[in-house]
Amino acid sequence: MKHTSIFTILGAALLLAACGQAQPPAQDNLPHLAKQGTATQLMVDGKPFLMLGGELGNSTASSLHELDSVFGQLHRAGLNTALVPACWELIEPEEGRFDFTSIDAAIAAARTHSLKLTLLWFGAWKNSMSCYAPLWVKERYEKYPRSRTQSGYPLEIMTPFSDSNLAADRRAFAALMAYLAQVDAAARTVIMVQVENEIGMIPNARDYHPEATKRFNAPVPQQLCSYLAAHEASLHPSLRERWEASGKKASGTWTELFGKGLESDEIFMAYHYGLFVEEVVRAGKEAYPLPMYLNAALNSRGRKPGEYPSAGPLAHLLDVWRAAAPSIDFIAPDIYDPGFADWCAQYHAAGNPLFIPEIRMSNDNAAKVFYAFGEHEAMGFSPFSIEDMHTPPLTKSYEALRQVAPLLAEAQGKGKTRGFLLDKDVSQRTVEMGGYRLTGRHVYSYGWSPLAGDGSPWPEAGALVVQLSDSEFLVAGTGVAITFSSALGSDVVTGIGYIDKVAFTDGKMTVIRRMNGDQSHQGRHLRIEVGDWNIQHVKLYSYK
Ligand code: DGJ
Repeated sequence: MKHTSIFTILGAALLLAACGQAQPPAQDNLPHLAKQGTATQLMVDGKPFLMLGGELGNSTASSLHELDSVFGQLHRAGLNTALVPACWELIEPEEGRFDFTSIDAAIAAARTHSLKLTLLWFGAWKNSMSCYAPLWVKERYEKYPRSRTQSGYPLEIMTPFSDSNLAADRRAFAALMAYLAQVDAAARTVIMVQVENEIGMIPNARDYHPEATKRFNAPVPQQLCSYLAAHEASLHPSLRERWEASGKKASGTWTELFGKGLESDEIFMAYHYGLFVEEVVRAGKEAYPLPMYLNAALNSRGRKPGEYPSAGPLAHLLDVWRAAAPSIDFIAPDIYDPGFADWCAQYHAAGNPLFIPEIRMSNDNAAKVFYAFGEHEAMGFSPFSIEDMHTPPLTKSYEALRQVAPLLAEAQGKGKTRGFLLDKDVSQRTVEMGGYRLTGRHVYSYGWSPLAGDGSPWPEAGALVVQLSDSEFLVAGTGVAITFSSALGSDVVTGIGYIDKVAFTDGKMTVIRRMNGDQSHQGRHLRIEVGDWNIQHVKLYSYK
């Protein structure tokens, strides 16, 4: 790798001085999170920003000369944001010597191609492991100790029960954020930061480093006990049940509070990962307060703690993470497993906004993305290894979403958006909004297409709906037909006044075509065919 602009300093204090950055920039101008009704929105340059994203494969961004062409490709594919690793081993190749060449290259390429960046801090942990720790950390394992298995075997996982591990990770992350404050606070190309990557303990549910065992046998810190009592009503059911089953104690050891077993090991571990991450995040935000989140490898397929990366920022551990790491803004699922709608619901709960930093690349993402934004007020969507996207469906969805983004952002959090995600098994769903009942059907469920019944796979169909007024809706999606009826139980019948296929330029709607006759099933429904992507505006009316 070429080192063109090496930024070398000896320590964090010196770094701040070198940056001329004694104070973090004023928060008002920086990307931040804001509530609008029930939604949490990412505000960028004073406006809600819906992230049409994609995450680079882990090693792509380290090839600096390729970044320009990769980002050009992403821009042409309709993305507005790239999620890009910021790798500790590249940023601090020698202890105390920082090199931000890789960050400079990502920011420059992003600016050239009008993309925003979410940086992923591959620091102490990446997919449980510590493979992105610089070699000087890895080699000095006595100073930077490892987690241990139950049988005492050392893992390539930095233990969170070590002050020197924390100090090293925290200092490097703070240096990165201070550098961003220096080079990017004015242009604000970097809009959010993921801290670490898929933290989680494996192959045991907890660390067996001697310090971990000592703390496991000690009383649960008062901070967590008080959190449980103060948030009793809203605790995740699985945590509340464990606590209640053990007598809802106000103090005691981990097994006294949560019972014996892998689940208690996991709660203990989550809390201590949380304490570590809190320190890292706080130091980072002090230098440059961008929104910061954690991503999770999901605990799917009925696996037990220890069989998946345990104790990560998982939905069932949200309370534990919140108690230990209140500076983290939200947690986010990496969705590689089936059950998309269910994962969305689990992570859009208890005040946690939905952001999907990784999802397995698939043509069906083109449908899922509409559902995430429409049904779950999502902040963003981002397939993994996006540079390998050679098929266009998601590009078409992003194109539609880009057009409706201002309108969607305005409607989020006010009960004015819904989403449909349909396939062969769940081919129909009814929702209520604004006094109407909307039934979405997969277009193949009408049986008109020969592909519907000849054994061909049904591509997933998805749409989002935005209510524009008492009698107007906007629908964007693919493969969905929607009928409308009154939900008010009166004797009036809801009819379709007209439907237009529309486009938006700078938020202004223009009509492309009136959709009637065959295109609306002679006025019975609004329809977007499978293999077609568009935005339609429907005006309803009532008759008796
Ligand atoms: C999830 C991780 O977060 C990514 O960095 C990458 O390793 C993918 N898994 C690979 O499938």
